[in-house]
Amino acid sequence: MKNSSSSRALRFTESVIREMTRICLKHDGVNLAQGFPDFPAPAEIKEAARKAIQADLNQYAITWGEPNLRHAIAEKFAWYNGVTVDPETEITVCCGSTEAMISSLMAIVNSEEEVIVFEPFYENYGPDTILCDAKPRFITLREPGWRFDEEELTQTFNNKTKAIIINTPNNPTGKVFSREELQFIADLCLKWGVIAVTDEIYEHILYDEAKHISIASLPGMRDETITINSISKTYSLTGWRVGWAIAPAPLTASIRKVHDFLTVGAPHPLQEAAATALHIDRSYYETLAREYEERRDFLSGVLDDSGFRIYRPQGAYYIMTDVGHFGFSDDVAFALHLVEKFGLATVPGSSFYSRSSLGATKIRFCFPKKKETLEQAAEKLGHFKKEREE
Ligand SMILES: Cc1ncc(COP(=O)(O)O)c(C=O)c1O
Repeated sequence: MKNSSSSRALRFTESVIREMTRICLKHDGVNLAQGFPDFPAPAEIKEAARKAIQADLNQYAITWGEPNLRHAIAEKFAWYNGVTVDPETEITVCCGSTEAMISSLMAIVNSEEEVIVFEPFYENYGPDTILCDAKPRFITLREPGWRFDEEELTQTFNNKTKAIIINTPNNPTGKVFSREELQFIADLCLKWGVIAVTDEIYEHILYDEAKHISIASLPGMRDETITINSISKTYSLTGWRVGWAIAPAPLTASIRKVHDFLTVGAPHPLQEAAATALHIDRSYYETLAREYEERRDFLSGVLDDSGFRIYRPQGAYYIMTDVGHFGFSDDVAFALHLVEKFGLATVPGSSFYSRSSLGATKIRFCFPKKKETLEQAAEKLGHFKKEREE
């Protein structure tokens, strides 16, 4: 047997975030590492899934997605994002936005073409670019405002640039890209014929006065954009694995082929229930944002009181912090100390950067949790604070 792994698989490691979850379980800790809710999903959506299973919608769905769901996605995209698309030819339902992203990149990127990625980035984007044989070009978002350098971005676009990955609202920084920033990126995409691949799964989780803008809604960008989304975050259904890619018809034709041979399709009954989710009363989205804002304010206050330097998020459900002043050798040592000694799991900042030095003093906390869970985390942070004061 030629028992070696592919060079592709050897170029990335297992997910640090999911590893922190495993370490947390070993220490019976509180998990503020992996971004999944510990509170129930809306009852009417769960009921829709139960009914779909009882109605025996238990075989393969149409590869690129149940018509009901594709129509619901198109309707909601027109309402919330201001872009009209054809559900017959411009939507591919996938197994979560994770699969939508990798299927989209594999459908558009040729070997050695360049893909621009803002860092810190959601950790899947690194392996995604490796799996599609692209050459990633990283642009660093600089704290405290997590802005990019316009000149650096302009210089990075070239004839080999195929795509730019945008994630707004952003994981891990909580940044919400402004209209001006998106217009700047759009102008470069239009100039160089580059596709914007935008992950908008936190589009409804916004704080203060932040507004979500889809780059596909800017003039000329509808046909240059792949918009990726899922039910995971908006409806607290991360385990259902239903997401989608919205793209102009010629790109969708390629995405559908890659998707078909990667997974055949997303779970049929859960697609039916996802259509119900997308038709939920619109007041749901306001309540969702308000409840997340309360969680953000609670955890920000606790972290601040415990001595962390926090970057206050405008969206999504994470808080990036700086811990350089606590005197640990690096972010991994700090995160291990917090989980092993106090039972609180977080994510070391370096896992969001191409060069670990950029994240060596950063730690990410997530807060899609019940009040009781956040209170338990607060208690653990209280012990950490006490240790430092002794
Ligand atoms: C920015 C971002 N994109 C995608 C995902 C994964 O989403 P899905 O469950 O739809 O695959 C996550 C999960 O944390 C995320 O933060």
